[in-house]
Amino acid sequence: MTNEAQTFNDIVNARRSIRIYDEKAPFDPEAVTRSLDRALLAPNSSNLQLWEFYRVKTKAKKDELAQYCLGQKAAVTANELIVFVTRRDKWKEHANFVLAEAMKDFPDKIGKREQLVIDYYKKIIPALYFSDPADLTGGVKKLAAAVTGAFRPVPRQVTATDVRIVVHKSAALAAQTFMLSMAAEGYDTCPMEGFDSARVKKFLQLPAAAEICMIVSVGKAKPEGVYGKRVRLPKEQVVFEI
Ligand SMILES: Cc1cc2nc3c(=O)[nH]c(=O)nc-3n(C[C@H](O)[C@H](O)[C@H](O)COP(=O)(O)O)c2cc1C
Repeated sequence: MTNEAQTFNDIVNARRSIRIYDEKAPFDPEAVTRSLDRALLAPNSSNLQLWEFYRVKTKAKKDELAQYCLGQKAAVTANELIVFVTRRDKWKEHANFVLAEAMKDFPDKIGKREQLVIDYYKKIIPALYFSDPADLTGGVKKLAAAVTGAFRPVPRQVTATDVRIVVHKSAALAAQTFMLSMAAEGYDTCPMEGFDSARVKKFLQLPAAAEICMIVSVGKAKPEGVYGKRVRLPKEQVVFEI
């Protein structure tokens, strides 16, 4: 094993979900800044980066948000709360940005590879992400995928619900990158889905299409903040070699 792998192994093993933080322990907010920078580098679907990270630092705002986390001690005793939000509504804006950035490096004469990238962001992404309020287009796309899919492999994640899952996957990867980074910085975290999403959305003044993926609390653990030993299913039950 390389030294880097050993260090990574130590970080993964050190991370536990912490339910009580030591509010008096020294805390470097720059560790959060660095970890959010790293979270931005998480892999994400089509590189559309349909996520936003809201960092709630001030005591009054943090205390209010902790109440929307149902008063969990993991939120109440934290130094900061980071809300990982999905923004599937921003697909067009982000697709244009990512394509424009890619095109800056394109040669003057557009070749086959460049045309594929342009078609991807101009045709495929709109086909996947566009939806009407009742998602009637989603139904049509699903039917078309079922018919064409009988003859060749096709993308089947085409409805509005499928798109919601896609953006939550990417936001969750950003949250995990953030948590591992905080562990590397010597701090602790707790991912939370126990919150009142309607109140959290109102608190952050988010539009209807935005969704809360996860709220991650950060701080320095109190020894009693680790609830029990680490339990995982036997590997044979979940890891399969094919
Ligand atoms: C999506 C998600 C939501 C979670 N929500 C909560 C929560 O609301 N409150 C809490 O105390 N822990 C929450 N957890 C933490 C899990 O209970 C914890 O990760 C699990 O028990 C394994 O423990 P470990 O993280 O210490 O390895 C959540 C974890 C994930 C991934």
